[in-house]
Amino acid sequence: MKKILAISGSLRWGSSNHSILQFLGSMAPADVEYTIYNGLSQIPAFDPGLDNDCPPAPVASLRKLLTEADGLIICTPEYAFGVPGSLKNALDWLVSSSTLVDKPVALITASSAGEYAHASLLLTLGALTANVIPETTLLIQFIRSKMDSEGNVKDEETAKKLQETIAVFLKAV
Ligand SMILES: Cc1cc2nc3c(=O)[nH]c(=O)nc-3n(C[C@H](O)[C@H](O)[C@H](O)COP(=O)(O)O)c2cc1C
Repeated sequence: MKKILAISGSLRWGSSNHSILQFLGSMAPADVEYTIYNGLSQIPAFDPGLDNDCPPAPVASLRKLLTEADGLIICTPEYAFGVPGSLKNALDWLVSSSTLVDKPVALITASSAGEYAHASLLLTLGALTANVIPETTLLIQFIRSKMDSEGNVKDEETAKKLQETIAVFLKAV
């Protein structure tokens, strides 16, 4: 049984990014355990003084989930030309633990524009020496116009790109 952890950079109820992660999960086969992480808002602000083998419980929990996962999918918006603070904060807690070293990662930025957050996250994931699969990095712009009010991906081209992305990612893990 392969395990995939999915993290949304948006905490918003009704988030497009969360809906995209649900859409990707709906395409995972039965032998893949696909989990959308829901603890991002519980992660405390990064403190290098507490960054050791016994970090705050939510951090330890995230590290454990990621250690056990065969792959990570990040799907995030951009805020104020950058990576959402809660997501960047969580990634900062992963640097010293080497949790993401060589871990297959898919990066989807679904935002109004998103190119700054996308580029910045690629740099951060590089610093974490994650194995970002190039064919599974996707920047989806004007995201709100590509979703319907029920959180379905209504834009056919976007849905196709997401289907291709998850297919490649599943092969990689
Ligand atoms: C405070 C704030 C700042 C934002 N700044 C940007 C931005 O710099 N670039 C961008 O592409 N979208 C920006 N957006 C728009 C988001 O991309 C858009 O709301 C997106 O749908 C959020 O993702 P979600 O639907 O998953 O919550 C911003 C939204 C908010 C609330």
